[in-house]
Amino acid sequence: MSSDLSQTIERVLADEGDVRTATDSHQAEFPYNRDREAEVTRREFCNFLFLTSTTMFVGAAGFSAKSVYDAGAKKPLAPAPIPDSEAMMPGTAMNFNYPGAEDSAILIRSNDGSYHAYGQKCTHLSCPVYYSKEHKRLECPCHEGGFSETTGEVLYGPPPRPLDKIELEIRDGRVFAIGREVRGNET
Ligand code: FES
Repeated sequence: MSSDLSQTIERVLADEGDVRTATDSHQAEFPYNRDREAEVTRREFCNFLFLTSTTMFVGAAGFSAKSVYDAGAKKPLAPAPIPDSEAMMPGTAMNFNYPGAEDSAILIRSNDGSYHAYGQKCTHLSCPVYYSKEHKRLECPCHEGGFSETTGEVLYGPPPRPLDKIELEIRDGRVFAIGREVRGNET
């Protein structure tokens, strides 16, 4: 194994530790399945190594094409009520899962009473983002990325595009998730 590759593997494993340290203080309020995330990260990394060792050009083209395909993709999904959302006070946030049980998301109720929801995975390197009541924005503790609470757009830091948006609908006072949109950088 080349020393470059060994160093890269060591760096990926060290990054996992950094993410855990950076997100520790938020786990109680906004729980996030970090074990599963680490598994996915390792699996994606191994897939990446396999692709690059077989054909780097085809692999890179594949990732690029998938990225273009994913950005802007709006998936039609089954509506699902968000438990306990009707009891939320303005200026608060809570976690929920949508569309699957492992798809972590954050629901925010702004001070004006409006609801907004986003996927919890940062668009930089997939760390979980958290809601800051103090700053009224979503913050990524890994590399200091910030996102708007009302649009999910990048406010500062390295993330290249907005958070995935969860489409919402209010039905008889209950908040339903009705879709999820992966967005590109339109600015
Ligand atoms: S993973 Fe969020 S800013 Fe880097």
